[in-house]
Amino acid sequence: MQIDNSNILVLGANGQVGRELAKRADNFNINVKALSRLELDITKSEDVASVLQRIGPKILINAAAYTAVDDAESQSEIAFNVNRDAVETLAKNCAKFSIPLIHLSTDYVFDGKKSGAYLEDDPVCPIGVYGRSKEAGEAHLRDIIDEHMIIRTSWVYSAHGNNFLRTMLRLATERDELNIVEDQKGVPTFAGDIADALLSIVQRLTLGKHEKVWGTFHYTAKNPTTWRGFADEIFNQIRNYDMAVPVVNGIPSSQYPTPASRPLNSVLNCDKIERVFDVPRRSWREGMLEVIDQLLKDEQQ
Ligand SMILES: NC(=O)c1ccc[n+]([C@@H]2O[C@H](COP(=O)([O-])OP(=O)(O)OC[C@H]3O[C@@H](n4cnc5c(N)ncnc54)[C@H](OP(=O)(O)O)[C@@H]3O)[C@@H](O)[C@H]2O)c1
Repeated sequence: MQIDNSNILVLGANGQVGRELAKRADNFNINVKALSRLELDITKSEDVASVLQRIGPKILINAAAYTAVDDAESQSEIAFNVNRDAVETLAKNCAKFSIPLIHLSTDYVFDGKKSGAYLEDDPVCPIGVYGRSKEAGEAHLRDIIDEHMIIRTSWVYSAHGNNFLRTMLRLATERDELNIVEDQKGVPTFAGDIADALLSIVQRLTLGKHEKVWGTFHYTAKNPTTWRGFADEIFNQIRNYDMAVPVVNGIPSSQYPTPASRPLNSVLNCDKIERVFDVPRRSWREGMLEVIDQLLKDEQQ
Protein backbone atom coordinates (compact mmCIF):
# COMPACT_ATOMS: atom_id res chain seq x y z
CA MET A 1 0.00 0.00 0.00
CA GLN A 2 1.43 3.34 -0.98
CA ILE A 3 0.11 6.73 0.08
CA ASP A 4 1.24 10.02 -1.37
CA ASN A 5 2.25 12.28 1.54
CA SER A 6 1.72 15.52 -0.36
CA ASN A 7 -1.51 16.44 1.36
CA ILE A 8 -2.12 15.51 4.99
CA LEU A 9 -4.98 17.24 6.78
CA VAL A 10 -4.78 17.87 10.54
CA LEU A 11 -7.83 18.87 12.60
CA GLY A 12 -7.50 20.58 15.98
CA ALA A 13 -4.69 22.88 14.81
CA ASN A 14 -4.71 25.02 17.96
CA GLY A 15 -4.47 22.09 20.35
CA GLN A 16 -1.30 20.77 21.94
CA VAL A 17 -0.79 17.94 19.45
CA GLY A 18 -2.24 19.84 16.48
CA ARG A 19 0.24 22.70 16.88
CA GLU A 20 3.21 20.34 17.14
CA LEU A 21 2.09 18.43 14.06
CA ALA A 22 1.96 21.63 12.02
CA LYS A 23 5.31 22.81 13.41
CA ARG A 24 7.19 19.56 12.80
CA ALA A 25 5.77 18.34 9.48
CA ASP A 26 8.57 19.94 7.44
CA ASN A 27 11.15 17.84 9.31
CA PHE A 28 9.48 14.80 7.76
CA ASN A 29 9.00 16.34 4.32
CA ILE A 30 5.28 16.11 4.84
CA ASN A 31 2.94 18.76 3.56
CA VAL A 32 0.38 19.41 6.27
CA LYS A 33 -2.70 21.56 6.14
CA ALA A 34 -3.90 22.20 9.68
CA LEU A 35 -7.37 23.55 10.46
CA SER A 36 -8.46 25.06 13.75
CA ARG A 37 -11.95 24.87 15.20
CA LEU A 38 -12.70 28.25 13.61
CA GLU A 39 -11.75 26.88 10.20
CA LEU A 40 -13.61 23.61 10.63
CA ASP A 41 -15.91 22.80 13.51
CA ILE A 42 -16.02 19.00 13.39
CA THR A 43 -19.51 18.92 14.89
CA LYS A 44 -20.85 20.57 11.72
CA SER A 45 -21.33 17.54 9.53
CA GLU A 46 -22.05 19.41 6.30
CA ASP A 47 -18.89 21.47 6.69
CA VAL A 48 -16.87 18.32 7.37
CA ALA A 49 -18.17 16.71 4.19
CA SER A 50 -17.50 19.74 2.02
CA VAL A 51 -13.99 20.40 3.44
CA LEU A 52 -12.92 16.79 2.99
CA GLN A 53 -14.26 16.73 -0.53
CA ARG A 54 -12.64 20.06 -1.43
CA ILE A 55 -9.22 19.34 0.10
CA GLY A 56 -9.17 15.63 -0.67
CA PRO A 57 -6.36 14.80 1.77
CA LYS A 58 -4.32 11.63 1.41
CA ILE A 59 -4.63 11.07 5.17
CA LEU A 60 -6.68 12.79 7.87
CA ILE A 61 -5.22 13.16 11.37
CA ASN A 62 -7.87 14.06 13.93
CA ALA A 63 -6.26 15.86 16.86
CA ALA A 64 -9.46 17.75 17.66
CA ALA A 65 -11.30 16.69 20.79
CA TYR A 66 -13.14 17.87 23.86
CA THR A 67 -10.43 17.29 26.48
CA ALA A 68 -11.66 19.02 29.67
CA VAL A 69 -11.86 15.91 31.85
CA ASP A 70 -13.55 17.54 34.85
CA ASP A 71 -15.86 19.89 32.91
CA ALA A 72 -17.07 16.91 30.88
CA GLU A 73 -18.90 15.64 33.97
CA SER A 74 -21.31 18.59 33.72
CA GLN A 75 -21.07 19.06 29.94
CA SER A 76 -21.55 15.52 28.75
CA GLU A 77 -23.64 16.60 25.78
CA ILE A 78 -20.78 18.66 24.35
CA ALA A 79 -18.19 15.99 25.18
CA PHE A 80 -20.20 13.29 23.35
CA ASN A 81 -21.00 15.65 20.51
CA VAL A 82 -17.30 16.27 19.81
CA ASN A 83 -15.71 12.98 20.90
CA ARG A 84 -18.36 10.53 19.64
CA ASP A 85 -20.78 12.10 17.14
CA ALA A 86 -18.24 14.23 15.29
CA VAL A 87 -15.83 11.28 15.11
CA GLU A 88 -18.63 9.23 13.59
CA THR A 89 -19.11 11.97 10.97
CA LEU A 90 -15.39 12.09 10.25
CA ALA A 91 -15.26 8.31 9.90
CA LYS A 92 -18.26 8.21 7.54
CA ASN A 93 -16.82 10.91 5.31
CA CYS A 94 -13.34 9.39 5.33
CA ALA A 95 -14.84 6.03 4.36
CA LYS A 96 -16.88 7.70 1.59
CA PHE A 97 -13.90 9.54 0.12
CA SER A 98 -11.38 6.70 0.82
CA ILE A 99 -9.27 8.79 3.19
CA PRO A 100 -7.35 6.82 5.87
CA LEU A 101 -8.12 8.29 9.29
CA ILE A 102 -5.61 8.56 12.14
CA HIS A 103 -7.42 9.42 15.35
CA LEU A 104 -6.11 10.17 18.84
CA SER A 105 -7.61 8.65 21.93
CA THR A 106 -6.84 8.34 25.59
CA ASP A 107 -5.62 6.18 28.47
CA TYR A 108 -8.84 7.19 30.25
CA VAL A 109 -10.79 4.54 28.31
CA PHE A 110 -9.48 2.16 31.00
CA ASP A 111 -10.64 1.91 34.61
CA GLY A 112 -7.14 1.68 36.08
CA LYS A 113 -7.71 -1.57 37.96
CA LYS A 114 -5.11 -3.57 36.03
CA SER A 115 -1.79 -3.87 37.83
CA GLY A 116 0.41 -3.88 34.72
CA ALA A 117 0.50 -1.75 31.59
CA TYR A 118 -2.63 -1.82 29.40
CA LEU A 119 -2.52 -3.60 26.05
CA GLU A 120 -4.48 -2.38 23.03
CA ASP A 121 -7.03 -5.19 23.30
CA ASP A 122 -7.56 -5.08 27.06
CA PRO A 123 -11.24 -4.49 27.87
CA VAL A 124 -12.14 -0.82 28.07
CA CYS A 125 -14.16 0.46 31.00
CA PRO A 126 -14.02 4.25 31.31
CA ILE A 127 -14.90 5.72 34.70
CA GLY A 128 -15.74 9.28 33.64
CA VAL A 129 -17.73 11.12 30.97
CA TYR A 130 -14.64 12.17 29.01
CA GLY A 131 -13.34 8.59 28.85
CA ARG A 132 -16.80 7.28 27.92
CA SER A 133 -17.15 9.84 25.14
CA LYS A 134 -13.70 8.99 23.73
CA GLU A 135 -14.41 5.27 23.96
CA ALA A 136 -17.70 5.75 22.10
CA GLY A 137 -15.82 7.64 19.37
CA GLU A 138 -13.33 4.79 19.07
CA ALA A 139 -16.14 2.24 18.73
CA HIS A 140 -17.88 4.18 15.94
CA LEU A 141 -14.65 4.66 14.09
CA ARG A 142 -13.81 0.93 14.18
CA ASP A 143 -17.30 0.06 12.93
CA ILE A 144 -17.30 2.54 10.07
CA ILE A 145 -13.86 2.64 8.48
CA ASP A 146 -11.34 -0.14 7.98
CA GLU A 147 -8.45 2.15 7.10
CA HIS A 148 -8.14 3.71 10.54
CA MET A 149 -5.57 4.03 13.25
CA ILE A 150 -6.62 4.82 16.82
CA ILE A 151 -3.62 5.99 18.78
CA ARG A 152 -4.16 6.21 22.52
CA THR A 153 -1.83 8.41 24.49
CA SER A 154 -1.64 9.83 28.03
CA TRP A 155 -0.96 12.86 30.26
CA VAL A 156 -0.18 15.22 27.37
CA TYR A 157 1.79 18.41 27.99
CA SER A 158 3.46 21.07 25.87
CA ALA A 159 4.39 24.75 25.99
CA HIS A 160 0.80 25.65 25.08
CA GLY A 161 -2.66 25.00 26.43
CA ASN A 162 -3.89 23.64 29.73
CA ASN A 163 -1.61 21.01 31.11
CA PHE A 164 -0.05 19.85 34.38
CA LEU A 165 3.43 21.14 33.61
CA ARG A 166 2.23 24.68 32.91
CA THR A 167 0.02 24.58 36.01
CA MET A 168 3.02 23.57 38.15
CA LEU A 169 5.13 26.42 36.72
CA ARG A 170 2.39 28.89 37.59
CA LEU A 171 1.85 27.46 41.07
CA ALA A 172 5.59 27.63 41.75
CA THR A 173 5.32 31.41 41.55
CA GLU A 174 2.20 31.55 43.74
CA ARG A 175 2.56 28.95 46.48
CA ASP A 176 5.10 27.75 49.06
CA GLU A 177 3.53 24.34 49.53
CA LEU A 178 1.50 22.01 47.30
CA ASN A 179 -0.41 18.79 47.81
CA ILE A 180 -0.08 16.55 44.77
CA VAL A 181 -1.76 13.22 44.12
CA GLU A 182 0.68 10.33 44.35
CA ASP A 183 -1.48 7.26 43.84
CA GLN A 184 -2.29 7.72 40.14
CA LYS A 185 0.25 6.12 37.84
CA GLY A 186 0.75 7.06 34.18
CA VAL A 187 3.20 8.47 31.68
CA PRO A 188 3.48 12.19 30.92
CA THR A 189 3.90 12.59 27.18
CA PHE A 190 5.17 15.65 25.30
CA ALA A 191 2.83 16.63 22.45
CA GLY A 192 5.93 17.14 20.28
CA ASP A 193 6.89 13.50 20.74
CA ILE A 194 3.36 12.40 19.81
CA ALA A 195 3.56 14.56 16.68
CA ASP A 196 6.93 13.04 15.76
CA ALA A 197 5.51 9.55 16.22
CA LEU A 198 2.46 10.33 14.05
CA LEU A 199 4.55 11.96 11.34
CA SER A 200 7.01 9.09 11.27
CA ILE A 201 4.05 6.71 10.84
CA VAL A 202 2.69 8.82 7.99
CA GLN A 203 6.14 8.81 6.42
CA ARG A 204 6.34 5.02 6.69
CA LEU A 205 2.87 4.63 5.19
CA THR A 206 4.08 6.57 2.18
CA LEU A 207 6.94 4.12 1.74
CA GLY A 208 4.35 1.38 1.35
CA LYS A 209 6.21 -1.03 3.60
CA HIS A 210 3.31 -1.91 5.85
CA GLU A 211 0.52 -4.25 4.89
CA LYS A 212 -1.48 -4.60 8.08
CA VAL A 213 -1.13 -1.20 9.64
CA TRP A 214 -4.66 -0.41 10.65
CA GLY A 215 -6.07 -0.81 14.14
CA THR A 216 -5.47 0.43 17.66
CA PHE A 217 -2.07 1.40 19.04
CA HIS A 218 -0.68 2.86 22.24
CA TYR A 219 1.94 5.59 22.20
CA THR A 220 3.36 7.35 25.26
CA ALA A 221 6.77 8.39 26.48
CA LYS A 222 8.77 5.90 28.59
CA ASN A 223 9.06 5.43 32.36
CA PRO A 224 5.77 5.51 34.29
CA THR A 225 5.49 7.90 37.21
CA THR A 226 2.83 9.60 39.35
CA TRP A 227 1.57 13.20 39.28
CA ARG A 228 3.71 13.76 42.37
CA GLY A 229 6.74 12.25 40.61
CA PHE A 230 6.11 14.51 37.63
CA ALA A 231 5.80 17.58 39.91
CA ASP A 232 9.01 16.69 41.78
CA GLU A 233 10.96 16.52 38.51
CA ILE A 234 9.50 19.80 37.26
CA PHE A 235 10.50 21.55 40.48
CA ASN A 236 13.98 19.95 40.51
CA GLN A 237 14.51 21.31 37.05
CA ILE A 238 13.27 24.86 37.60
CA ARG A 239 15.79 25.34 40.43
CA ASN A 240 18.28 25.67 37.57
CA TYR A 241 16.43 28.81 36.51
CA ASP A 242 16.73 30.33 40.01
CA MET A 243 13.04 29.93 40.64
CA ALA A 244 11.63 29.33 44.12
CA VAL A 245 10.32 25.82 44.52
CA PRO A 246 7.32 24.86 46.69
CA VAL A 247 7.40 22.02 49.18
CA VAL A 248 5.48 19.07 47.72
CA ASN A 249 3.35 16.76 49.86
CA GLY A 250 2.14 13.54 48.28
CA ILE A 251 -1.54 12.83 48.92
CA PRO A 252 -3.98 10.08 47.88
CA SER A 253 -6.66 10.84 45.29
CA SER A 254 -9.25 10.58 48.07
CA GLN A 255 -7.84 13.80 49.55
CA TYR A 256 -8.11 15.66 46.23
CA PRO A 257 -11.71 15.30 45.10
CA THR A 258 -12.35 16.31 41.49
CA PRO A 259 -15.60 16.19 39.48
CA ALA A 260 -14.20 13.30 37.39
CA SER A 261 -12.60 10.19 38.87
CA ARG A 262 -9.34 9.19 37.22
CA PRO A 263 -7.87 5.70 36.80
CA LEU A 264 -5.24 4.81 39.39
CA ASN A 265 -3.18 3.08 36.73
CA SER A 266 -3.27 4.28 33.14
CA VAL A 267 0.12 3.09 31.95
CA LEU A 268 -0.12 1.97 28.32
CA ASN A 269 1.98 -0.84 26.88
CA CYS A 270 3.56 0.58 23.72
CA ASP A 271 5.32 -2.54 22.40
CA LYS A 272 2.97 -2.85 19.41
CA ILE A 273 3.62 0.58 17.92
CA GLU A 274 7.37 0.12 18.44
CA ARG A 275 7.26 -3.29 16.78
CA VAL A 276 5.09 -2.32 13.82
CA PHE A 277 6.36 1.21 13.11
CA ASP A 278 9.65 1.45 14.98
CA VAL A 279 8.56 4.89 16.26
CA PRO A 280 10.95 6.87 18.46
CA ARG A 281 10.12 6.81 22.19
CA ARG A 282 12.06 8.52 24.93
CA SER A 283 11.69 9.17 28.64
CA TRP A 284 9.10 11.78 29.60
CA ARG A 285 11.90 13.55 31.47
CA GLU A 286 13.60 14.47 28.20
CA GLY A 287 10.44 16.02 26.77
CA MET A 288 9.80 17.80 30.06
CA LEU A 289 13.29 19.36 30.02
CA GLU A 290 12.70 20.59 26.48
CA VAL A 291 9.38 22.22 27.30
CA ILE A 292 10.60 23.82 30.55
CA ASP A 293 13.59 25.18 28.71
CA GLN A 294 11.36 26.58 26.00
CA LEU A 295 8.99 28.23 28.48
CA LEU A 296 11.49 29.62 30.97
CA LYS A 297 14.04 30.78 28.42
CA ASP A 298 11.27 32.67 26.63
CA GLU A 299 10.32 34.27 29.95
CA GLN A 300 13.89 35.27 30.83
CA GLN A 301 14.49 36.91 27.44
N1 LIG B 1 -4.50 16.38 26.96
C1 LIG B 1 -4.28 15.17 27.47
O1 LIG B 1 -3.76 15.03 28.58
C2 LIG B 1 -4.61 13.94 26.67
C3 LIG B 1 -4.37 12.67 27.25
C4 LIG B 1 -4.67 11.53 26.50
C5 LIG B 1 -5.18 11.64 25.23
N2 LIG B 1 -5.42 12.87 24.71
C6 LIG B 1 -6.01 12.95 23.37
O2 LIG B 1 -5.06 13.50 22.49
C7 LIG B 1 -5.70 14.30 21.50
C8 LIG B 1 -5.08 15.69 21.47
O3 LIG B 1 -5.17 16.25 22.76
P1 LIG B 1 -4.61 17.71 23.07
O4 LIG B 1 -4.03 17.66 24.44
O5 LIG B 1 -3.80 18.20 21.93
O6 LIG B 1 -5.99 18.50 23.16
P2 LIG B 1 -6.24 20.06 23.24
O7 LIG B 1 -4.98 20.79 23.47
O8 LIG B 1 -7.39 20.25 24.14
O9 LIG B 1 -6.67 20.38 21.74
C9 LIG B 1 -7.88 19.93 21.23
C10 LIG B 1 -8.26 20.86 20.11
O10 LIG B 1 -9.50 20.41 19.61
C11 LIG B 1 -10.22 21.56 19.24
N3 LIG B 1 -11.64 21.32 19.21
C12 LIG B 1 -12.50 21.14 20.24
N4 LIG B 1 -13.75 21.02 19.77
C13 LIG B 1 -13.67 21.13 18.42
C14 LIG B 1 -14.62 21.11 17.38
N5 LIG B 1 -15.91 20.97 17.64
N6 LIG B 1 -14.19 21.25 16.11
C15 LIG B 1 -12.87 21.42 15.84
N7 LIG B 1 -11.92 21.46 16.78
C16 LIG B 1 -12.32 21.32 18.06
C17 LIG B 1 -9.89 22.60 20.31
O11 LIG B 1 -10.17 23.86 19.77
P3 LIG B 1 -10.03 25.22 20.64
O12 LIG B 1 -8.55 25.46 20.72
O13 LIG B 1 -10.75 26.21 19.83
O14 LIG B 1 -10.66 24.91 21.95
C18 LIG B 1 -8.41 22.32 20.55
O15 LIG B 1 -7.60 23.17 19.78
C19 LIG B 1 -7.20 14.27 21.87
O16 LIG B 1 -7.82 13.29 21.09
C20 LIG B 1 -7.22 13.87 23.32
O17 LIG B 1 -8.41 13.19 23.65
C21 LIG B 1 -5.12 14.03 25.39
